[in-house]
Amino acid sequence: MSDHLATKCVNNRHETLKYDNTGAISYPIYQTATFAHPGVGESTGYDYSRQQNPTREQLERVVASLENGTDALAFSSGMAAVAVMLELLKPGDHIISSCDLYGGMIRYFQHISEKNGLTVTYWSGAPGELAGLVRKETAAIFIETPSNPMMNIIDIQKTADVAREHQLLFVADNTFLSPWFQNPLDLGADIVLHSGTKFLGGHNDTLSGFLVVKDAALAERLRFLSKTIGSCLAPFDSWLVLRGVKTLGLRMEASQKNALAIARFLSGHPRVTKIYYPGLPDFTGAEVHLRQARGFGSMLTFQTDTKETALRVLKSVKLLHFAESLGGVESLITYPSTQTHADVPLEDRERNGILETTLRLSAGIEHEADLIADLAQALGE
Ligand SMILES: Cc1ncc(COP(=O)(O)O)c(C=O)c1O
Repeated sequence: MSDHLATKCVNNRHETLKYDNTGAISYPIYQTATFAHPGVGESTGYDYSRQQNPTREQLERVVASLENGTDALAFSSGMAAVAVMLELLKPGDHIISSCDLYGGMIRYFQHISEKNGLTVTYWSGAPGELAGLVRKETAAIFIETPSNPMMNIIDIQKTADVAREHQLLFVADNTFLSPWFQNPLDLGADIVLHSGTKFLGGHNDTLSGFLVVKDAALAERLRFLSKTIGSCLAPFDSWLVLRGVKTLGLRMEASQKNALAIARFLSGHPRVTKIYYPGLPDFTGAEVHLRQARGFGSMLTFQTDTKETALRVLKSVKLLHFAESLGGVESLITYPSTQTHADVPLEDRERNGILETTLRLSAGIEHEADLIADLAQALGE
């Protein structure tokens, strides 16, 4: 098997031959809930699709290889992956989480994890502050880098050092960069989380989520939880993500090019007061980011001069869609304070810099001139 990501995205046929000798180039969709047994006490290797399904397994192999993991588990959404991952913990456990996070994650911590006896301390992301937050009940560290939506960068390797020293489970959400641009397992994370709904799927047409690991014992615990909880990805959705992953590299490069062009355009715009994009020269965290990632990605966040400007942009865009989500071929723009982060308490949102003037943009693969023209007319003079 090649070590090149571009090849890994497209070609992972060698594992499939034992089930499929038709020569089909596109991996078959095994749209079945259950599998017949050859005899009593015998199995084809497949018994029931909640536990194993060939199409899902094929996708899991591809995603594991892209993240340099030994195993990946596919779920019905990113949040389904989060729910299974958090079942590794027990009541009384304490989690340290970076403070700027996808709002649904904060909602999960506040409304589900706390009820289940977990406590969470939010961390600024500054490496020097991490060890001081570790308590005797601390069991896990959770980070996003770059974070959603403020594009904060966290040093993965330094976080892994603290996690290792205190024997904590270290989970890194790699949704924003995808394995094309960053591989947290190589930098010491125990689990990589993805909302596969975003760049891995890439077409805004299906939800999915992934947990990727290197350690076999951890993989076994997660597989037990996954088959018991039952939030696995369906065969057809697995196939859609498999198809999406084939063009991951092309999409990541094209959307990154657009994001950079948009960021440069916004930098000179009188109605834009601040831009958070790793590809801009004055980006805070650039040095750490460049050490641990191979690209800047296609997510950018910016502040407009007033709330009215932000609302006008959302109302006036014609090519970009005003919609939640990110990472697809269509460019999307969203308003974190009332959408993705609406459930985050106001003071937490404001502390993280999510204001009524904040817009988050996911660059797609349309022509950059059209995207810039659309933003120019939406921002006005
Ligand atoms: C960084 C990040 N992680 C996880 C999730 C949750 O994924 P899903 O929407 O697929 O459940 C999202 C959703 O936007 C996200 O942005």
